[in-house]
Parts: sequence; C-alpha cells; structure tokens
Amino acid sequence: MPSHKPTIGILTSGGDCPGLNAVIRAAVKSAVRLGYGCIGFLRGYEGLVDPVAYMPLDLHNTANILLQGGTILGSTNKGRFSTLVGEGERVRIDPELLSETAATVRQLGVTGLICIGGDGSLAIAQQLHEQGIPVVGVPKTIDNDLGCTAFTFGFDSAVACATDALDRLHTTAASHERVMVLEVMGRHAGWIALHAGIAGGGDVILLPEIPWTFDNVCRKVLEREREGRKYTLIVVAEGARHPDGSLVHDGHAPGGAHERRQVRLGGIGEIVAQEVAKRLGREVRAIVLGHLQRGGTPTPFDRVLATQFGAHAVRLVHEGRFGDMVCYRPPHIESVAIAEAIGTPATVDPSHSAVQAARALGIGFGDGVELSPFAE
Ligand code: F6P
Repeated sequence: MPSHKPTIGILTSGGDCPGLNAVIRAAVKSAVRLGYGCIGFLRGYEGLVDPVAYMPLDLHNTANILLQGGTILGSTNKGRFSTLVGEGERVRIDPELLSETAATVRQLGVTGLICIGGDGSLAIAQQLHEQGIPVVGVPKTIDNDLGCTAFTFGFDSAVACATDALDRLHTTAASHERVMVLEVMGRHAGWIALHAGIAGGGDVILLPEIPWTFDNVCRKVLEREREGRKYTLIVVAEGARHPDGSLVHDGHAPGGAHERRQVRLGGIGEIVAQEVAKRLGREVRAIVLGHLQRGGTPTPFDRVLATQFGAHAVRLVHEGRFGDMVCYRPPHIESVAIAEAIGTPATVDPSHSAVQAARALGIGFGDGVELSPFAE
C-alpha cells in the first residue's frame, strides 16, 4: 500500500479459535464506515517484521466470513515474539524486533493496530504499546483465562464442542457400562472442563484449580455403582495437575530465540483412565478432544461477542485509546488497560457458583468434598 486513507492494521495471534474472522469482519465493516482503510498482517506478529507480510482488507474479502472458523490472516502461538515459554513463564521481546515493528507500522501509515489474541499475545501487545506503537487489544481464547472480561470469544464454541462430545460419550458409556474419561483443553484454567462437565452431565470434573486424588475419583465411581449407575463420565482439564503435583505435558523445553514456545499440555486423561482401571478393575476409555475444540463455526454467542469486540476495537482506535483492550462486562462492552487484563489471569475460583451448583448435584471434583454447601 500505503493508501491516502488513515489505516487500521489487524492481526490474529496465538492459538486460533472460532470467532476470529467475525472480529475481523466487524472491525473492517465499522472501520470502512468511519473512513479508514484496513490491512491485515499475516501469521500474527510475525507479519510485522522481515519478511513483512500483509494483505488489504475490505468489504469484499471479509464478506461471508462471520461463520468461518480459523482466521483468514493466519496465526501462530510460537516464534520470535513469544512472551510465554515453558510452563507459562513470561519473557521480554528482543528490542530489535520491537524497533522493527515500530518501523513497519510507521512506514505503512498504520494509525492503530488491533491485536486479537489471548494472554500471551496481549502481553506482546503491551510491550508494543510500551514502545509507543498504537495498539488496541481484543481478547480471544477458548481457555477463557483472561482477566477483566466476563468471557473471551471462542470459549462458548469450545464448550459447545466438548458438550457435544460428552453427549455422545454418555450413550456409549451407558450401553457398555464403562468409565469414560474426556480430556479437554483450557491450559491452566478449568473453565472448559467446568462448563462442559456441567452442560454434558459429567459425574466427575477434574480442574487445575482444585487438587484431587485417585482415591476420591474411584470412590465416586463406586458410589455411582452402588446407586445403580453402572457408568461414569469423568471430564479432566489438560492442566489438572497429577496428584503428585506435576503438570502432564510433552516435556518440550523452551526453544531458542527463533522457536520460543510453551510446553504442550496433555496426557492427564490417559493417566486417570489407567489408574482407575488398575484400582477398580473396570473397563475405562480415555478420549482426548484436542483441536476439535478450536475448529468449526462459532456459536451465535461467540458471533455476537466477536462482532461487538471488533466494532468496539475500531471505536478505541478512532478515539485514540491505545493500550486498552475491549472487554465484556455484562451487559456492557467496555475497555480496560491491557496491562491490567494480562496481570489478572482468570482461573476458576473453587467457590464459584457453578462449582457450588455442581457439588449440590453430587458431581465430584476428586477432592472428597461431596456435600452440597446448601445442605449445611
Ligand atoms: O490456548 C489455547 C489452546 O488451545 C490451549 O487450550 C491448549 O493448551 C493450546 O492452545 C494448544 O496449543 P497448540 O495448538 O500449540 O497445540
């Protein structure tokens, strides 16, 4: 380009999720109405530095992407800009990359850069902001682990997928009188496991936020059998720590400067299945739902949230409110400093009303606390 119009840059960074394209579409539509031109940087922040890669965004190439999963701009959750490595440690971005980014933004005449991402990607946005680059954040992640917003878009779609999986497992578990273990994503937050576990009629939900033991899980299976229910559905979050305190992951060490990344969580479901099978002598199957949770079309809730986020992000650029992230504080869409949002991770409070309701129904969390708090 660059065009004579003021230009808004857009990028999608981190793990993809349903609703990214809905944000892009909403941002472009509302930006065009305000007289902006739009460009989209490719492969997240990588598109901002050598080799700089971007595409024009207009009403034509963003038409009909509202319901499309993934992102037309591409994304990455590793690479030169990663600020989260290992088990979630934060690191600084190479100052040379920051200067290169500032130069690209300047040369392309970008008056505002909308960064759509999760905590790691917004931590990058914050460092860009500190460098004087005019950024605005949009919170996305299936994990729903960002502070200062009631929900991130993508979460509802992931929960719908995990709930559908549980609905399907329910019937086959009942037919075969089996224990079924479903491992879901969510990184260090148990939101997907908690919501899908409740919506899908799970019997045991294992979360990163509530320490649990194999004894308590097995006790729940036996309790159900005594009550005549010969099958049990266990939902386990990938970040639920093993009772010995360890996180189960691929052991990938943080890479070099060009391949920084976090460890890949996963495997706790199989461990739970094997241990329950060994202790109880029952047939147990483990299913890892994996990236199915990140794919497909966004739910109506996510489409509405993503659309509001996209439009509000453009408004923040228009009003010069850089360094802010859009957020959902029901019933309002507002904004908050990115620094505040990334400094407040949103994990499940063990006394959360959804946990209490689940306990009231007799759903176990593997911690031996089975009594309904309402019964006291
Ligand atoms: O943060 C989103 C997420 O899907 C997590 O729930 C999961 O742990 C991770 O990304 C998986 O990342 P990758 O696509 O690199 O395997």
